[in-house]
Amino acid sequence: MTTLIVTENFQSAFEQYISQDQIAPLFVLGDARFVLKELPDSSIDCVMTSPPYWGKREYEHGGIGLEKDYRDYVRHLAEIFLELKRVVKPTGSFWLNIGDSYQRKNLLGIPWRVAFELTDKQGWTLRNAVVWNKVKSGMDNTTDRLSNRYELIFHFVKQPKGYYYNVDAIRSKPRAAKVVNGAVVSATGVSGVRYRRQIELSTALSEQEKAAAYEALDAMLAEVAAGRVADFRMIIRGQQRTTHSDREKVSGRAKEVREKGFYFLRYHPKGCKPSDVWDILPEDTQRRDLHFASYPVDLCRIPILATCPPEGVVLDPFCGTGTTLYAALTLGRKSVGIDISRKYLELAQERFITLL
Ligand SMILES: C[S@@+](CC[C@H](N)C(=O)[O-])C[C@H]1O[C@@H](n2cnc3c(N)ncnc32)[C@H](O)[C@@H]1O
Repeated sequence: MTTLIVTENFQSAFEQYISQDQIAPLFVLGDARFVLKELPDSSIDCVMTSPPYWGKREYEHGGIGLEKDYRDYVRHLAEIFLELKRVVKPTGSFWLNIGDSYQRKNLLGIPWRVAFELTDKQGWTLRNAVVWNKVKSGMDNTTDRLSNRYELIFHFVKQPKGYYYNVDAIRSKPRAAKVVNGAVVSATGVSGVRYRRQIELSTALSEQEKAAAYEALDAMLAEVAAGRVADFRMIIRGQQRTTHSDREKVSGRAKEVREKGFYFLRYHPKGCKPSDVWDILPEDTQRRDLHFASYPVDLCRIPILATCPPEGVVLDPFCGTGTTLYAALTLGRKSVGIDISRKYLELAQERFITLL
């Protein structure tokens, strides 16, 4: 199994790649503006990419990012993303990592300018704007503003409903309950002792409500012991604040507290889903002497696991050193990478030698 760099007849190379079993990535040398036009309609499940940033870095072959006016940069990117919309399946997703730039001290808000082009003019639906917290900042000698530590990753879909999204594939595994001194204790230490005491001492619950609360608490602990509920919190009238609001118009929970005197918050048995803030250290190990803008493999895991079916195809139209494709292969998905630079594609190929 080897990786291939295709330099012409992209359409037939793509069709052949899609029809075969092997998942080693297909590399395409060319300008994304032209290569994408050769890909068939609705053929890609998931796009994950990071285009050159405006005015920041010069790559081998110039092109996108070197426009004098940032508005031309936004327009050029939007043209490419419109073509992407054609090649993405109706159930597909587009994840875009894009950095911001300053001009005459003014932060331009480029990511959002691009996002609004896509939602307002091209009809994409924006599902998340993820903050990639890089945890540590790069060198910054400015003395009149804060250092920049995050970038944005947008998740767009072609249609607002019915797109592929496997939330269970990205949940963090729930920690198991344990038994301490013969009593079940949830992963976060809930044993029911404190709730039982609160019910007992409550002046806000009637005797009948107290009996019902004890019974419900025992039933909930039995669910935890049986592994059907990962964890829980109990909200008791007069003890804990009602979720969202105490006002019944705002919170259905408030009604439950008024009528019954208590309710439970259950943790999902399959674990928590990730939030839209990701703490991921930037990639320092990927040959930064040769390519200055590779992103970490971990950045691609959630997009691929959640929005590319196992038998699907991932595309990165600005693939650079092939990080997206590397992640796709390790997660068992086919992938196609386009880059204008042969040097970067060869560097990308090198990364796969150990995997293939
Ligand atoms: C930010 S880097 C991508 C880095 C990549 N995510 C990685 O981890 O290595 C952007 C890439 O876009 C490529 N590029 C610039 N203009 C292009 C174009 N018009 N078509 C295809 N690739 C282009 C550059 O050569 C560069 O490798």
